[in-house]
Amino acid sequence: MTIRWKHLIILIIVLPLLGLAFAWSGMMGIRASTGHWGVTDWFLHWAMRNSVGTAALGVEAPPLDDPARLPPAAGHYETGCAICHGSPASPRPDSVLAMLPPPPDLKQVVPQWTDAELFEIVKHGVRYTGMPAWPSQARDDEVWGMVAFIRRLPEMDARTYIQLSGLRTSGMAGAVSPLPITCESCHAQNRLDGKSVIPNIAGQSEAYLLESLKAYAEGRRQSGVMQLAVSAMDPATFPELARHFASQASQQSADDAAASELVEKGRILAETGRPADKVPACLSCHEKADGNPVYPHLSGQPAPYLERQLHLFRGGTRGGTSYSHLMVEAAKYLKEGDMAALAAYFAGRKGSGP
Ligand code: HEC
Ligand code: HEC
Ligand code: HEC
Repeated sequence: MTIRWKHLIILIIVLPLLGLAFAWSGMMGIRASTGHWGVTDWFLHWAMRNSVGTAALGVEAPPLDDPARLPPAAGHYETGCAICHGSPASPRPDSVLAMLPPPPDLKQVVPQWTDAELFEIVKHGVRYTGMPAWPSQARDDEVWGMVAFIRRLPEMDARTYIQLSGLRTSGMAGAVSPLPITCESCHAQNRLDGKSVIPNIAGQSEAYLLESLKAYAEGRRQSGVMQLAVSAMDPATFPELARHFASQASQQSADDAAASELVEKGRILAETGRPADKVPACLSCHEKADGNPVYPHLSGQPAPYLERQLHLFRGGTRGGTSYSHLMVEAAKYLKEGDMAALAAYFAGRKGSGP
């Protein structure tokens, strides 16, 4: 009995040392060019599938059928994912097919995963594969937008993809010009309507636009989509971008008017606040002619965008300019129904801004 125990202990000490010696010898293969053995490949994917499945157990998918989720996800996909996974408009480049493991064509694999599992993969990435995590870990709504988008990839044709992502075509049927995704791909006013989750930046305060771009670039405002959009830009170009969009005339997006009781509830809150609950009057800061230029215009913004931002402020996950703490305080005591009412009111309000 004692002899067996001794053997076991020796084995436990010696095995890791042997492993270490093997790695030290330089004989362990790390070449991507030779691929994995079939059994290694099976084992790694088996482990990944189990890990993703377990992590997704506690994740509950929200409804994903709102088409407004798709355009920002499609634009983000074109810049951040298509380079590895290809898209309905372009195949995977040869260079990434030599990666180990090669990034799969998502059209083929997406149906094998549940929404919650896709959420896990897109939010956290996959270690040792090159599959990156979502740029911002602080909020889930954008990740769900991406899940909604890739869920539709198997049936999506190139035209729909180009239209959703805002890619510019060269004019020939089905052909995509080499122009990358630009600010206009997502923010062009003719691509926005009252249901958008993308803000209208035309006619917004210049100071606010500039400070917001800096906030994304410096990671003080959380959005994987916008953080990626500005990541490759030189901050020296921000003042010009802010000036350009601030000087554009803003067209109010026409949409079915929201229920009038909702708008009326929003109006009262915006004008007088609710002092008993420490909710301030929104109009004491916003939409004032002599107000601080960093306070954004809200009038005419799409209601879903405004409502999302209010949720983010209330949840403490919306940073921004050096004044954003004021807005965090203003949103802290809003109740669930307040946010839809305020969003409906400001979306329909005529104002100087967007
Ligand atoms: C640098 C290349 C790269 C980029 C960029 C990238 N991925 Fe991946 N992705 C991979 C690799 C590699 C895998 C793992 C494949 C495997 O396990 O065999 C993967 C796996 C996945 C999977 C799981 C599919 C499966 O069955 O293995 C999904 C879903 C996915 N990526 C979505 C995305 C999305 C959405 C984006 C953009 C936000 C993205 N990826 C960006 C390389 C990339
Ligand atoms: C892939 C789509 C996409 C692209 C490309 C994009 N944006 Fe955005 N932008 C968004 C989304 C979505 C938001 C809302 C993000 C959030 O919740 O903070 C946003 C927010 C903004 C805001 C904050 C507006 C506000 O009211 O708070 C500014 C400013 C902005 N974008 C400017 C730009 C500029 C300038 C570019 C080009 C360099 C650009 N965006 C490119 C999708 C995009
Ligand atoms: C004390 C001043 C103040 C009050 C009161 C205030 N806000 Fe704000 N609000 C701000 C500031 C400052 C920002 C800009 C935050 C940032 O990005 O730095 C902002 C931003 C916002 C945004 C985001 C706009 C965008 O384009 O992303 C919304 C929506 C908003 N406020 C709604 C409201 C509502 C609704 C109320 C009333 C309940 C309110 N605010 C009260 C100062 C205020």
